[in-house]
Amino acid sequence: MSNVNRREANPNNGDWAVEARGLVKTFGDNRAVDGVNLNVRAGTIYGVLGPNGAGKTTTIRMLATLLRPDAGSARIFGHDVVKESQIVRQLIGVTGQYASVDESLSATENLVIFSRLLGLGRAEARRKAADLLEEFSLTEAAKRPLKNFSGGMRRRLDLAASLIAQPPLIFLDEPTTGLDPRTRNQMWDTIRRLVKTGSTVLLTTQYLQEADELADRIAVIDHGRVVAEGTVNELKASVGTSSLQLSIQNPMDIQVARQTVEQVLKVQSTVSSEVGKITAPMADADRVTDLLIALRDAGIQLAELSVQKPTLDEVFLTITGHGVKEDASKASDESDKVREVIV
Ligand SMILES: Nc1ncnc2c1ncn2[C@@H]1O[C@H](COP(=O)(O)OP(=O)(O)OP(=O)(O)O)[C@@H](O)[C@H]1O
Ligand SMILES: [Mg+2]
Repeated sequence: MSNVNRREANPNNGDWAVEARGLVKTFGDNRAVDGVNLNVRAGTIYGVLGPNGAGKTTTIRMLATLLRPDAGSARIFGHDVVKESQIVRQLIGVTGQYASVDESLSATENLVIFSRLLGLGRAEARRKAADLLEEFSLTEAAKRPLKNFSGGMRRRLDLAASLIAQPPLIFLDEPTTGLDPRTRNQMWDTIRRLVKTGSTVLLTTQYLQEADELADRIAVIDHGRVVAEGTVNELKASVGTSSLQLSIQNPMDIQVARQTVEQVLKVQSTVSSEVGKITAPMADADRVTDLLIALRDAGIQLAELSVQKPTLDEVFLTITGHGVKEDASKASDESDKVREVIV
């Protein structure tokens, strides 16, 4: 098997890009990853969501053959990450290389060098570099040396470099941490396009909105374990009830309206008086019809009625018993650490 060629490295096992069973990684007495199972279907975006120190990066490093698992196993398109690591490396995006490139070279020069290293001809390498710089909105900066690039520009260039040979599976470790909102949206578009053009993406994030926007399925990971898994909607549903929000036209009616809501839905409600809004958990959607009739009978006019599904923030809080907000603020300080393992 020492002489691996491209043909052997074709993805197989069509359905599954990642199958991880019981992955464990211990650092000293810290079980950073404590029995992680993951299944990522080919052609999808999979989000691994968790706070600082949850074990996201360590999991990705094992899947990307950068770290040997202490226990468990993982397959990438059917190839074992330990026994067939050479093949796996040809199927995934590998980074780290990029940081070693000369800072005095321009973005274009860097991308051309990478393309040449990957075996592209001179003209093709130039074209590829130009296309990628365009795609990542770096055309204007293309001739500037890397050392003058902002953090966001470097991050985009990192991703561009890893896409020269668009691999079947792309690992993105917190791809948008520290990016401004515009750049983050561009990154999201790029990630979606990658999947449209045949790649599978496994990304980690601390941003619930990001998982919500991008991911077909999500694993919530905490203390090295997957504590919840499913589609965004399944996870939201697992937190329980949606909530019903009513705005009343006449603020004078609010107390009567509230009593009506509580009697008909048989729940406790909350009122935010400044906007005349009543919020109540909604376990049974059928009851809403009864409520509307009761409100009409009481002569109460509604300004607005909406049903709110729980946010992923609430999902996370419910599942892990703690929030992510305080963790998220730390994340931007760690962008250097994270960059080293992007893709
Ligand atoms: N090389 C290492 N040596 C020792 N401990 C490590 C090492 N890498 C990670 N850890 C520890 O393993 C745990 C999981 O770290 P990991 O980087 O996987 O978390 P993460 O979910 O990626 O967090 P973050 O959101 O901060 O990136 C942490 O307690 C961390 O301190
Ligand atoms: Mg990490």
